[in-house]
Amino acid sequence: MRDAVARDLAGARERTLLLTDLDDPLLVAQHDPLMSPLVWDLAHIGQQEELWLLRAGDANRPGILPPQVDSLYDAFKHARAERPSLPLLPPVAAREFCHEVRGRVLDALERIPDDAGELFAAGMVVQHEQQHDETMLATLQLRQGPPVLHGQPVPRGRTLDIDRVFVAGGEFVLGVDGTDEPFSLDNERPAHRVDVGPFWIGRAPVTNAAWQDFVADGGYHQQKWWSAAGWTHRIQAGLERPEFWTADNARRRFGLLEQVPPDEPVQHVSYFEAEAFAAWSGARLPTELEWEKACAWDPVTGSRRQWPWGSAEPAAQRANLGGAALRPAPVGAYPAGASAYGAEQLIGDVWEWTSSDFAPWPGFMPMIYQQYSEPFFGGDYKVLRGGSWAVAASTIRPSFRNWDHPVRRQIFSGLRLAWDA
Ligand code: AVJ
Ligand code: FE
Repeated sequence: MRDAVARDLAGARERTLLLTDLDDPLLVAQHDPLMSPLVWDLAHIGQQEELWLLRAGDANRPGILPPQVDSLYDAFKHARAERPSLPLLPPVAAREFCHEVRGRVLDALERIPDDAGELFAAGMVVQHEQQHDETMLATLQLRQGPPVLHGQPVPRGRTLDIDRVFVAGGEFVLGVDGTDEPFSLDNERPAHRVDVGPFWIGRAPVTNAAWQDFVADGGYHQQKWWSAAGWTHRIQAGLERPEFWTADNARRRFGLLEQVPPDEPVQHVSYFEAEAFAAWSGARLPTELEWEKACAWDPVTGSRRQWPWGSAEPAAQRANLGGAALRPAPVGAYPAGASAYGAEQLIGDVWEWTSSDFAPWPGFMPMIYQQYSEPFFGGDYKVLRGGSWAVAASTIRPSFRNWDHPVRRQIFSGLRLAWDA
C-alpha cells in the first residue's frame, strides 16, 4: 500500500513538472480570469502537501514558508481573479518549495505504518495534486498562443449499432466505504442501498457530430429546449456552440486549429447546454444514481465492480486517462471498457454532466480536509461523473463525484443521454 502511494506521488509530480516546464512569463501570466496563474497551482500543490502531511492540517503550525506567504495559497482566502496580483513565489522558488516538501514527505512516509487508514492523507494529497494537474490543463487550453503541449495518439473508434443500453429497476449499492475503496473521498461515502427505477442510458457519450446537428437545427435559438435559467444564461453569454469551436466547424485545442472530429465525444459544454441538447434529442440527462448504477453495478452477481469492466487496473485498451492524449478518444474506442450493462467510455474521455445537485450521501462525514466537499453542498453546483482524458487513474472511480457551476465549460465536460423506460 505504501509503495503504491509513493509511486502515485511520484507519478503526480512527474506530470506537474511536465505541465509547468514552461517559460516564466507563461507561468506567471493569468491566461483567463477563471483560472489561477500556473505558478499559483504549482506552489499550492506543495503548500497543501505540506499542510496535510507535515503540519497535520493545522495552518497555525509553522511551515517552510513565512505565514504571510503560506496564506497566499489558501484557496478560500484569495479568489482566482485576484491571484495574479498577489506577491506569489516566482517559478524557481515555487519549484524549490515543492521539492523541499516532497523530500520531507518521503521521509515521513517511511515512518507511517503501512496501513490504508494511516496512509489516507497521503492518498488524498496524490489526488489533490492530480486534480490541479487537470486544472492546469484547462488553463493551458484557455491560453492563446502556439502549442506548448503535444498529444499522444488515441485508439480508433468503431460504429455502435445500438445507441443505448437498458438498466432494469431495483436496488443497488450507491457509494463506497473505506474498506473497499481506501482512498475514496468523503463525498463518495458511505455505501448505501438505493432503489432506482428502470431507465435507458447512452452506450457512449454524445459526439461532436450529434452536437453539430443540434447547432445546425437551430437548437441554440429555440427557447423550448432550454430551462429558464439556461436560456437566460445562453442569451447573456451569447452562446452559439461549444467553447473553442469556430462558426465554420473548426476548434482550437491546445493552440492548434483543427476540424471538429465528428466521432469524438463533445467537450467544453456547460450543464445548461447539455440539458438543452438532451431535451432536443428527446432524452434527458441521467441522475448521478443512474449513472453510477450503469457504471458499477453487476446485476448478475448483485454487487459492485471496482471498475465498469471489472477489477483489472485501467490500461490503455480500457480507458483514456492520464492526460497524455490531450483529447477524448472517438466513440467506440474502448469495447474492453464496457460496464456490465454494456455502456462504454464511462471512465475517462469526458466528464459527464448529470442532472443531480451536489449534496451529501446520508451518513456523510467530512474527512481531514473538511473544506473539500462540505462548503459546496447546497450551492448551484451540478455533479459530473466518470473523469476526463485529463484525469489520472488513481483519482477516478465509479463513485467519484466532481461538481461545478452549471455555466462552466472550460472543464473537459460532455454528456451522456438517458431516457425513461
Ligand atoms: C473537485 C475539481 C471541484 O478544483 O475546485 C482542488 C478539487 N479542491 N483543490 C476544485 C480541488 C481543492 C475541486 N473539484
Ligand atoms: Fe486545491
